[in-house]
Amino acid sequence: MTRSVKLILGAWVLAIIAGIAWVGIEISGGAPSIGGPFTLVDHNGKRVTDQDFRGKPTVIYFGFAYCPDVCPTSLLLMQTGVDQLGPQAAAKVNLLFISVDPERDTPAALKEYVAQFGPTMVGLTGTQDQVAAAAKAFRVYYQKVPSKGGAPYLVDHSSIFYLMDRDFRFVKHFTHQAKAEDIARALKPLL
Ligand code: NI
Repeated sequence: MTRSVKLILGAWVLAIIAGIAWVGIEISGGAPSIGGPFTLVDHNGKRVTDQDFRGKPTVIYFGFAYCPDVCPTSLLLMQTGVDQLGPQAAAKVNLLFISVDPERDTPAALKEYVAQFGPTMVGLTGTQDQVAAAAKAFRVYYQKVPSKGGAPYLVDHSSIFYLMDRDFRFVKHFTHQAKAEDIARALKPLL
């Protein structure tokens, strides 16, 4: 073989090895690491962890009660999706609203807030650190936006639904542009 042919072959071998290594990373990365252990406080003031939600599939949404439009629309969508599976379905699913605004979203405030969407929805809050850890586990972004002219501050946040199975393992996510039917369809086999 000429030197140039050897070089070309060598380059191919390197490219193939790199390709195999990449595929290996993709496979070992397999299930995306979304979700993880968290400790928060529910809307009755009780300390809860992710372990408390095992046994039923779970739909999670992160937001804040003062949110003017996206959060209310999203929580309504989450509740509607579950209700499409029948009148008893809500009792068989954990519907969690995790606050990214623990400063204002006290357990009492959340209790009143989530009750507007459905009787089984659970509001979760905690210390700043607890909320930050839960958000990190779900790769949720949030950032307080300073208020102008004395208006209440807002919290910029990602708007994603997370569907977890009965073992609290991540199944899939939806954006708030999903339809209630999409959520119902994904939830049905997990019931
Ligand atoms: Ni919001």
